[in-house]
Amino acid sequence: MWLAKPQSSGLKAGRDRLLPAPWGKAGKRTKWGTMSSKPHNAAPPAPDTSLLPPAIAASAKAVDATLDAVLPRPAGRQARVQEAMRYAITAGGKRLRPFLVLHSARLFGVDDSRSLRVGAAIEALHTYSLVHDDLPCMDDDDLRRGRPTTHIAFDEMTAVLAGDALLTIAFEILADARTHPSADVRCALIARLAEAAGHSGMIGGQIIDMLADTLRSEGGGFGVEDVIDLQRRKTGQLFEFSCEAGPILGQADAETRARLKAYAEDMGVVFQITDDLLDVTSTAEKTGKAVGKDADMGKQTLVTLLGLEGARAEAEKRARRAVEALGPYAAQSPELSALPFFLLNRDA
Ligand code: IPE
Ligand code: IPE
Ligand code: MG
Ligand code: MG
Ligand code: MG
Repeated sequence: MWLAKPQSSGLKAGRDRLLPAPWGKAGKRTKWGTMSSKPHNAAPPAPDTSLLPPAIAASAKAVDATLDAVLPRPAGRQARVQEAMRYAITAGGKRLRPFLVLHSARLFGVDDSRSLRVGAAIEALHTYSLVHDDLPCMDDDDLRRGRPTTHIAFDEMTAVLAGDALLTIAFEILADARTHPSADVRCALIARLAEAAGHSGMIGGQIIDMLADTLRSEGGGFGVEDVIDLQRRKTGQLFEFSCEAGPILGQADAETRARLKAYAEDMGVVFQITDDLLDVTSTAEKTGKAVGKDADMGKQTLVTLLGLEGARAEAEKRARRAVEALGPYAAQSPELSALPFFLLNRDA
């Protein structure tokens, strides 16, 4: 069964060849403590995640300043859409994708002023995806980031257009020479973001998500592998872009980029499983958005397929695998190493 062994696609096999033996050799000291010399199944202790809240807050503050600088100030006859763009993006949000850009870029000595612009671009694009995701024709939500959704605060027409403008400005920010002096690097960022956000990436995942219940009831089946594929697209691809942005900005080699991509793949699954768990176990007060929606809308998730415990076990396995994928970079970035474990226990 799928859960018993990793997928055997060429990509996965290639990625596994890159990985060190999981968690170091038995009896050796690792950065998570001394491993027992006895054969065992117990997972090693998770890394300390206490460094993350202040680190995430610091990067959020920096990216918010960059967003303020790059977003238009409402003016002229188009002011309404510019106001809605700012409303959607300044409402809060965890700013996880810019955090990943910043820390993946620091691994390669990239100046924060560059990675923060890429962080602002991905946050703008992510916010567009939320504005559209909340529309009545999609998930029909009226609460986002603790405030009325953009189509409630403004109107549907303005929300659609504000989403379009947030999507478009992401590419404008990347194309600007202040993001990187090399046009090749800027093109690589633009191409990767277009792929991640487009028909086979985030948008591909969104349409499968909307159609999953129909696909299942029409007898096509919709199992664990299908849910993982959907989630890799709808959520994972933007995380992959965020983590690959560091090696792209730092002009690192293909093997290095593959490590960061592999990390993001598993981390994205951890993130989406915990989003689905919170939809069942948390409150609107904590998450800033409606809960209980997935069941109401007949959404297929790992929680509906595996139950709360099964989904959590899968997320824990993926968190360990994400850090293994980083190889030598795990020790260089305590922030990237701790994030998958921090996500496991998030409550918002
Ligand atoms: C929510 O993403 C949408 C999903 C991909 C599940 P986040 O949980 O990162 O939302 P914000 O940016 O913190 O509001
Ligand atoms: C949304 O997934 C993912 C994107 C916006 C691409 P969800 O529909 O699960 O996100 P929430 O729960 O509304 O934040
Ligand atoms: Mg949705
Ligand atoms: Mg939604
Ligand atoms: Mg959700």
